Formats: sequence, structure tokens, C-alpha cells
Amino acid sequence: MTALNVENIGKTYKNGVKALDDISLQVEKGELYTFLGPNGAGKTTLLRIIATQLLPSKGKAMIFGHDVVKQPQLVRNLIGIVPQDVISYGSFTPYDYAYFFPLLRGMDRNKAKENAEKALKAVELWDLRKRYCFTLSGGERRRAVISGILASDVDFLMLDEPTSGLDAVSRRKVWSTLRDLVKLGKTIILTTHNMEEAEMVSDRIGIVNKGSKIVEGTLELIKEQVTEKYRVVVKGTIPGKEGVN
Ligand SMILES: Nc1ncnc2c1ncn2[C@@H]1O[C@H](COP(=O)(O)OP(=O)(O)O)[C@@H](O)[C@H]1O
Ligand SMILES: [Mg+2]
Repeated sequence: MTALNVENIGKTYKNGVKALDDISLQVEKGELYTFLGPNGAGKTTLLRIIATQLLPSKGKAMIFGHDVVKQPQLVRNLIGIVPQDVISYGSFTPYDYAYFFPLLRGMDRNKAKENAEKALKAVELWDLRKRYCFTLSGGERRRAVISGILASDVDFLMLDEPTSGLDAVSRRKVWSTLRDLVKLGKTIILTTHNMEEAEMVSDRIGIVNKGSKIVEGTLELIKEQVTEKYRVVVKGTIPGKEGVN
């Protein structure tokens, strides 16, 4: 089943910046698809269009068969998004995120409580659930926000650079949370400029640059398609081989 169908999406902002040229892609249900590309490539613009936050200049996008422009309300009920510049409120606790987000979306209290517990355990914040966010690390705060969309029980999750600024340990926790969700049948779209991240978590990757998708597939397929040669430079000294860099 197709979870997301993007057809010839283009976006030119009012100031004349052409952020997206002509992007088409499909994501299957239960797949983790990553938009990989440098800053300014158009990743956030594409994600915001899919999330009904921004209108495209051309083309169309459908989530589970619903048009994001014509049926935004319906689409919003099916999706959860963690924006790039996510703000966590210092006076919220992780529990507030995990419990109140689903309540705001109309879930009943008992179900919201049950989901909050599951979500906080999934992001490994159960023991910290009563701490104010201002006393938590950046990674813990990010995971608190993520727990809010997990508890909302949506089938389609979008995360815009969810691990930027996080340390290696927090980053791995976010990755394993995402893989666990995929095992449960959730569909996830992620953006990153980090090749390693894309490689670690994705089922498929679409490389985006200057508003266009340039290659797509599993990492192995992409590596075959990329014809440029790279040189790997290892800095440091190898024991017994001093002088070799
Ligand atoms: N609100 C906006 N108004 C005008 N230009 C924008 C706006 N948001 C982003 N852009 C421009 O669109 C291009 C793509 O940006 P963005 O989608 O944020 O890329 P990415 O997320 O890949 O870094 C960039 O050139 C950026 O400067
Ligand atoms: Mg961005």
C-alpha cells in the first residue's frame, strides 16, 4: 500500500526563491524513507508541504490517498510531525508531552494515559517523566517531543533533522526508537544532512539537492549509481606504523 505519493511538486517562495523544482516520489506503508541533502536543498520545504503547513506552487501530494491541499484536516489526523526547530517548553515535563498531545487530538483520558506510558518507555524517558524540560539535556528534550507524536497513535510520522545537535548516545536512541516504530508498521519520513544517519536508519533514501531528487534507492543501489570517486583520509597514527597517515 502506498502511504505517500508525491507528484511533480514544485515550490517557489514569494521572494522568488525556487526551493523545489519538480519532485516525485512514493513511500510504501511501513517504510522509513529519508530525504538526504545539504542545507538549503529543500528538505524542510517538502516536508512542510506534505504536512499541510505550506502550499505547493505546483504538483500534488497524497497521504493514504488523501490530498494534502484539498483534504488538509483529514490528513492532519493521520500524521505527526516533529519540526526542525522544535521548541520544548521548559515548564513542560516529558509526561506533559506524552499525555497532553494525544488528549489535544481528541483521545480519551484512559487511552492517552496508556499511550503516554508506552511512548515514554519507548524513548527511554519513563524514569525522567516528571522532570521539567529545562532540567533535561537537549537529547532528552527532543525525545520528550517525539514521545508526544508517538503517543498520538498516528500511522505516518515526519521528523525534520531529529538528531541534529544531539550527542552520539542520544542519536542512537532516536534511531532505535524509529526502527522499533517501523517494526510496528508505522511509516516514517526523516530528513538529514548526515550520510551515516541515513545509512543507519533508512529503508530507502532520496538524495535531494537544489530542489530536485537526484538519486533514490537503498544505500547500496545509490552507491552503485554514484560515479564520482571519493578518497578516504584517515588521520592519526597506526600503532607500529608511525609516520603513516
Ligand atoms: N519561508 C521562506 N521564504 C523564502 N525562502 C525560503 C523560505 N524557507 C526556505 N527558503 C529557501 O528555500 C530553500 C530550501 O530551504 P529548506 O527547505 O529549508 O532546505 P533544507 O531543509 O534542505 O535545508 C533555501 O534556499 C531557503 O533559503
Ligand atoms: Mg531543513
